[in-house]
Amino acid sequence: MDEKIVSMKNIVKEFSGVRVLDNVDFNIYKGKIMALVGENGAGKSTLMKILTGVYLKTSGDIYLEGKEVNFTTTKESQDMGVAIIHQELNLVQDLSISENIFLGREPVGKSGKIKWKQLYDESKQWLDKLGLNESPKELVKNLSVGKQQLIEIAKALSLNAKVIIMDEPTGALTISETEKLFEVVNELRSQGHSIVYISHRLNEIFQICDYVTVLRDGTLVGEKTIDELDEDKIIEMMVGRKLSEQYPRVNTILGHTVLEVKNLSNKFVKDISFELKEGEILGVAGLVGAGRTEMARSIYGVYPLDKGEILMKGKPVVIKSPKDAIKEGIAYVSEDRKSNGIVLGLNIVENVTLASLDQYVGKIGKINKSEEEKSTDSYVKSMSIKAAGTKQLLKFLSGGNQQKVALAKNLNTNPKILILDEPTRGVDVGAKKEIYELINKYKESGMSILMISSEIPEILGISDRVMVMHEGMVTGTLDIKNADQEKIMSLAVGKEVS
Ligand SMILES: Nc1ncnc2c1ncn2[C@@H]1O[C@H](COP(=O)(O)OP(=O)(O)OP(=O)(O)O)[C@@H](O)[C@H]1O
Ligand SMILES: [Mg+2]
Repeated sequence: MDEKIVSMKNIVKEFSGVRVLDNVDFNIYKGKIMALVGENGAGKSTLMKILTGVYLKTSGDIYLEGKEVNFTTTKESQDMGVAIIHQELNLVQDLSISENIFLGREPVGKSGKIKWKQLYDESKQWLDKLGLNESPKELVKNLSVGKQQLIEIAKALSLNAKVIIMDEPTGALTISETEKLFEVVNELRSQGHSIVYISHRLNEIFQICDYVTVLRDGTLVGEKTIDELDEDKIIEMMVGRKLSEQYPRVNTILGHTVLEVKNLSNKFVKDISFELKEGEILGVAGLVGAGRTEMARSIYGVYPLDKGEILMKGKPVVIKSPKDAIKEGIAYVSEDRKSNGIVLGLNIVENVTLASLDQYVGKIGKINKSEEEKSTDSYVKSMSIKAAGTKQLLKFLSGGNQQKVALAKNLNTNPKILILDEPTRGVDVGAKKEIYELINKYKESGMSILMISSEIPEILGISDRVMVMHEGMVTGTLDIKNADQEKIMSLAVGKEVS
C-alpha cells in the first residue's frame, strides 16, 4: 500500500446553502501522480481550493502527513509544502517573469533590499528546466498564454512543495511544452513529490498518472489505480453511463458559398484563401502558434489587413472592427475565456443576451425579461450548463461552464458565420458531445462554421473539410474523406502531402 501524504475526509462544501461537495474523501499518495477527474462543475477545483486554503470547508477533516490541518490562506498551505497552480492564470501582467515567480517572497539582503541578481539567477534555473528561453526580466504581458501557464508552473516548482496541484495545466500548451512539463512532472515524482493532476484530456492521464479519483456532481465515485482503468471506464465513471459515438456526424447538403476569403495577408498571416458554404464545418488544424487564431481575428476585424479581400455572398465587405464583423453576421468565440466578452461580474442571463439585447427590446423600449430568461434556459438545458440558476454570476461557474456560456452568447446573436476557436477546451467529455450536437444543429439550419481546434480527433470527427496551417500560411486543405491524423500532422509541420 502506498503511503498517504494527504487525506481529505468527508469534505462538505456549501456556497450560500447550495451543496457542491458532499462527503468527499480524497487521498494523495507520496511520490505519486493523482489524476482528479470529473465533468465540468463536478467540484474538482473547489476540492483543491479547500485543500489549499482558498475556500473554507463547510465540514470534514484534512490530514497532512497524519496531522490535522486547517489552512485558511494559500500562504499557510504553501508554508506547509502544498502548492497549487490554478486553472485560471493569476499572474501580474505588468511585472517581470521573476517578480511573478517570487512575488511576496523575494530574496532580500540585510538592508532589506531585494537581491535582484539572485532573483534572476534562480528564476533562470526554473525557466531552463521548463525549456523557456525568455529572459527572467521579460514582462509577463509579452508572453503567450501557454508561456504564462509555464510561469505559473515555475512559480509552484520554486516553492519546492511536497504536494503540487495542477488544475488543467496543459490547456494552452503546445505539444512540445506539454512534453517538457511531463518530463518535469516525472522528475518530481522520482524525487518523491506528490502531484494532483486535473485534466479533461484522458490520454494525458494515461501517460503520466498513477491513480485516478473520479468525482461526479460533488460526490466521490471512486479511486482506482491506473492499470484498473481504460478510457471507456473512466468516462463511464465520470458521466454515469456509457458514451457511444463521441463525435456525432451529420451530413448536410451544402448550400451556396457564404464566405470567401481571398489572399488575406498582414503581419500575422500570409496569403490565406478559402471558401465556406452554407451548412459547412471547415476545421482548421495546425500546431499552437501556426497563426490560426490570428487568422480568425483578422477576419473578425481585430487585426488590420495589409492585403486581401473578404466577400459575403459574393459581395466584398469592409470589416475594420469586430462591430463591423457582427453587423455582417460573423461571430467569434475566442479560445481565451477571459477575453471572450463574457463578464464575470454579470449573471448567466445577462451574459447570454449581452450581444443580442436588441432582440429583447419591446415596443416601448423596455427589455422583455421573460423572453431573455426563456432563451437562456434553452441554452442551459441544451448544453447542460451547471449552475445554481440562471441568475448565478459567471465568476462562480466552473471553468468549463463559463466556456459554454461564451458559446451560448455568440450563438444567440444568430450569426451566419460562426468562428469557433478551441470550442471545447476545458470542457468535459460528456459536455463536449453536447456541444458537437449543438454545432451540428446549427449546421443543419444552414449556419457556416469555421472551427479551429488542436484536437485532431475533434476536427476529424465533425468537420466536412480540414484546412491546415503552418507559420501563418495554409499548407493544405483536405476533404474529410481523405483526411487522417498523419496527413494533418504532416501539413501542420509544413510538409507536403500527396
Ligand atoms: N465561489 C463560488 N460560489 C458559488 N458557487 C461556486 C463557487 N465556486 C464554485 N462553485 C460551484 O461549485 C460547483 C463545482 O465547481 P468547480 O469549479 O469545483 O468544478 P470543476 O470540477 O473544477 O469543473 P471544471 O472542469 O469546469 O473546471 C459548480 O457548480 C460551481 O458553480
Ligand atoms: Mg475546475
